Amino acid sequence: EFHKHPKALHLASDGPFGKFDEQQLQRGFQVYKEVCAACHGLNLVAFRDLHALGYTEAEVKAIADQWQIEVPSINPETGEAATRKATPPDKFPSPYANETAARAANNNALPPDLSLITKAREGGAAYIYSLLTGYARQPAELVEKFPAAKTPPGLHYNPYFANLNLAMPPPLTAEGQVSYADGTKPSVQQMATDVSAFLVWAAEPNLARRHASGLAVVIFLLFGAIFGYLAYRNIWQTEK
Ligand code: HEM
Repeated sequence: EFHKHPKALHLASDGPFGKFDEQQLQRGFQVYKEVCAACHGLNLVAFRDLHALGYTEAEVKAIADQWQIEVPSINPETGEAATRKATPPDKFPSPYANETAARAANNNALPPDLSLITKAREGGAAYIYSLLTGYARQPAELVEKFPAAKTPPGLHYNPYFANLNLAMPPPLTAEGQVSYADGTKPSVQQMATDVSAFLVWAAEPNLARRHASGLAVVIFLLFGAIFGYLAYRNIWQTEK
């Protein structure tokens, strides 16, 4: 009874005819880049995939340039893993060297890769949006009824998360955390909506094409059905 269902979220990509809103995807990418990427990778998305969001080749190169990719060798001077700058064919890496490092930085929880998160969680984008905007003070009745569910130090209460207590600190806390190039007002709701839309794209970049071919297939089958019916009437005509 304390775990809430996702709030309603409407995106341009919804429904059988939905298409992505490129401007929104660019804004969502900006939120991912400036906020989420500190803890979450996007291992199934390559930098060059961003062309689909309307970025030019030079812009994609400049974006990739801001990430480091680990190479399988050790820097002999420092003893640390060596890195190189990312290039367009690279995927968005996890910011941590490995799972141990990721858990060490996050109260023993593992920030999941976000590539398929809108497919992996019930509620999809609406769940992501709700989670990001759903942090709250823990209700006293909950603690009275289930003392063991009291939020431990280092975790955060969020009624949209199945466990209720989440290791991710609220990532979007203040209006203007990112500044949008297209002039959209970066309220917390707006940033959460945009990054959710971006993650829908990340998980299924060909959604618009699937919708378009689905429509063509339905029209084709409709014609097939009409002609099939007419042929049936013709063949089984009773003689007059
Ligand atoms: C978990 C999204 C920023 C740390 C998650 C989950 C999502 C998510 C969808 C999975 C929740 C689930 O399992 O159902 C995002 C988005 C972000 C963001 C969209 C940017 C707006 C961050 C940042 C940090 C972080 C900046 C680190 C400071 C974590 C951790 C978990 C997590 C540790 C695992 C939580 C647990 O299992 O208790 N995040 N995140 N996230 N995130 Fe983030």
